[in-house]
Amino acid sequence: MRSLILALDQGTTSSRAILFDHAGRIRGSAQQEFPQLFPQPGWVEHDAEAIWQSQLAVAQQVMREQQVTAADIAAIGIANQRETTVIWERKTGRPIAPAIVWQDRRTASICEQLRNDDHESVFRAKTGLLLDPYFSGTKVKWLLDNIPDARAKAVRGELAFGTIDSWLTFKLCGRHLTDVSNASRTLLFDIHTLDWDDELLALLDIPHSLLPKIVSSSGIIADTFPTLFGESIPIAGIAGDQQAATFGQTCYTPGMAKNTYGTGCFMLLNIGTEVVASQNNLLTTVGWRHGNTADSQTSYMLEGGVFMAGATVQWLRDGLNIITHSSDVEALACSVPDNGGVVFVPAFSGLGAPYWDPHARGTIIGLTRGTNKAHIARAALESIAYQTADLMKAMQKDTHIPLQELRVDGGAARNDLLMQFQADILNTVVTRPSITETTALGAAYLAGLAVSFWSSVDELSSLWQIDRHFEPAMSSDERQHRLSVWRRAIQRAQAWDQ
Ligand code: G3P
Repeated sequence: MRSLILALDQGTTSSRAILFDHAGRIRGSAQQEFPQLFPQPGWVEHDAEAIWQSQLAVAQQVMREQQVTAADIAAIGIANQRETTVIWERKTGRPIAPAIVWQDRRTASICEQLRNDDHESVFRAKTGLLLDPYFSGTKVKWLLDNIPDARAKAVRGELAFGTIDSWLTFKLCGRHLTDVSNASRTLLFDIHTLDWDDELLALLDIPHSLLPKIVSSSGIIADTFPTLFGESIPIAGIAGDQQAATFGQTCYTPGMAKNTYGTGCFMLLNIGTEVVASQNNLLTTVGWRHGNTADSQTSYMLEGGVFMAGATVQWLRDGLNIITHSSDVEALACSVPDNGGVVFVPAFSGLGAPYWDPHARGTIIGLTRGTNKAHIARAALESIAYQTADLMKAMQKDTHIPLQELRVDGGAARNDLLMQFQADILNTVVTRPSITETTALGAAYLAGLAVSFWSSVDELSSLWQIDRHFEPAMSSDERQHRLSVWRRAIQRAQAWDQ
């Protein structure tokens, strides 16, 4: 009896594997962090082999610990950190260089050159993105320009490019493919035609032969190599982690939005089955596509992403050593009544939406002799909420619809202090579901729908349960005052590295 779905959640700082049952409950999970490589200021790399080994290890671990065999698993769903770029040799499967992580800023000058040459509008119109080092396209170009022989080998068809979903799928089953949601983050993919775009490829000097085949987010894709889990398991769902989280939050109706507090913080709003261009520096991106028939529907999202959320807390832990575990941040921040006038702009890798400033840098301002580590911890948490408020403001300008509720998930959504401050600063109800591992849940749902483990999105919606609502309780004057202080701090952080 295949009573479980295995979700692989390959995030920026850790790989996770979670088993879900038919009620959408977690049956077991395993997690491993892997090394973050910072070879130069502004550069962020991962060892793609370390990603794969950690992902495989946690999948095997959770099966072993739960005494589950491949015969118990109906399908595998994959959710992954997006944009991170791997190029490997088709013949050997070996990466030609470390993976360039989405946070990496090394291609800022390539973006600037394209912008100066007036190419931004074509990228914007076709991909729904803008020119920022965040996306994969300029990272691919950088690798082809800088790794010896890479472009020649690519032209000869000897190399493969993939985001992390492609890389994992290649390791799991030997095929080279990606789903529409991940493809929509590359700067190479037309979100209207749902295909790679030759004009964009030419602008970046990237040969078509590098690219994976595009598949739907929900549909049987391939079987895993039998050696990995004892016997084959079908891979039936793939989505970028933020789209997967939106699916797991059951935001299936236009107007529904979620915010995931992971390494970064990503707010996605379902805008329906037609592309809507943002006028306020947000992205339009593919949410998901079910099935592969002519009447298959694609759901689109408006997205705003901030680059540093949980990663700011990680920096308090690893960079400043003022907490031992990330979860200690709440107690430390609660040990002072307020931020003591400290404002923290965590622009360690520039600023994402709606500022898009790759040259912004982290700033802590308002320090006095009375400042201590608790104030810095509190300001760090508040920065996550402020950045989210900036995103929501841009979204409301784009849609003219005041959001009734924000569904939250991810590690830091368990932090009550942060969630209450988030509701206060947004002046919107923040709703936390009982399962906050929504990214993995969404990957499981996409896979489970494809193999009829679940029958419909209505069934999935009925499984969603509330843990807690956070009601806004801050006065309007205080909110406005705090937001104006935040904006001044943002201005100080901008264009620092120029
Ligand atoms: O776009 C980057 C995003 O996919 C990373 O997500 O959860 O690893 O912060 P996360």
